[in-house]
Amino acid sequence: MTDLSVIVAGVRFANPLVLASGIWGTTPELLERAARAGAGAVTAKTCTPAPRAGHRNPTAVDWGHGLLNAMGLPNPGADEETALLAEARRRLAPLGVPLIASIAADSVDGFAEAAAAVSRARPDLIEVNISCPNVADSHGEMFAASPRAAAQATRAAKGATAIPCLVKLSPQVYDIAAIARAVAEAGADGITAINTLAGMLVDAETGLPVLANRTGGISGPALKPLALRCVYEVSAAVGIPVIGTGGVASGLDAIEMLSVGATAVGVGTAVAVSSGDGAFARIVDELGGWMLARGIEHLDELRGRAHRARGGTAVPGTRETRLPPVPGWRPHEG
Ligand code: DHB
Repeated sequence: MTDLSVIVAGVRFANPLVLASGIWGTTPELLERAARAGAGAVTAKTCTPAPRAGHRNPTAVDWGHGLLNAMGLPNPGADEETALLAEARRRLAPLGVPLIASIAADSVDGFAEAAAAVSRARPDLIEVNISCPNVADSHGEMFAASPRAAAQATRAAKGATAIPCLVKLSPQVYDIAAIARAVAEAGADGITAINTLAGMLVDAETGLPVLANRTGGISGPALKPLALRCVYEVSAAVGIPVIGTGGVASGLDAIEMLSVGATAVGVGTAVAVSSGDGAFARIVDELGGWMLARGIEHLDELRGRAHRARGGTAVPGTRETRLPPVPGWRPHEG
């Protein structure tokens, strides 16, 4: 029998698919729906110590290759969110699907405050979101931008709770492995990689930005190669589990994410844009079927295969592209 279960920071998921934060995590009902639809674990929407209204509309746009969003962290604040998490936990317990709370803050103390608050609902894990690209905060830059700040936020959250903490990293850094090492040394029990990457869309007719916030986070298929590279580098740098998130919409995408070293796999935009809650059962089926056809009994056999590989292989469905020479162009000699 194919075994799709994984253990992340001591918590067992029946399969490696995790509902990513911010997608359906706004209500207990939607978290339950994702669990019933086949998610191995579900992540709530990020909350902050105080309530936030979020940005004006338009906050999200489907541009054909995924989403660009700048919600602006709308949430009812950590106390109100804790009541929602407690209700979510009550609904998820009979299903055996773990609940991941998500917290953010604009100060180190705020991470401790939010971690302490959500812990009262006893989620299975807490995701410490140090990488939201959409809010200008008093800290001046996201905590995920430097090893020192990332470690401070991690230490603050860990010091305020006994629940294992995953730290969510940003791809928008020069050396994501250095950030991963810093949060692991600060006590992180796992890493979620990656958050969205800041981008922009502009309306050609008016010349104006499409989103009210002007910029937003890129998610979905456009992000997959970036996420694979980041998970590859992070999993080589640290010994804690990684939830690989970014552009996963199929069983093969999930296999690729496991191959670069992920222990579990986040699914977000595929649920929000294309497949709805059908995404979970479909991806699980594709993953299980692929393994069965190859006699692979456990995900451990897939995990980290890319770290062993040398050189390139031709991948069905992709094309090697050689650009035609540009007439008259000479390499710059400097
Ligand atoms: C939002 C976006 C993110 O990528 C994130 O990690 C948290 C919040 C948002 O705009 O609401």
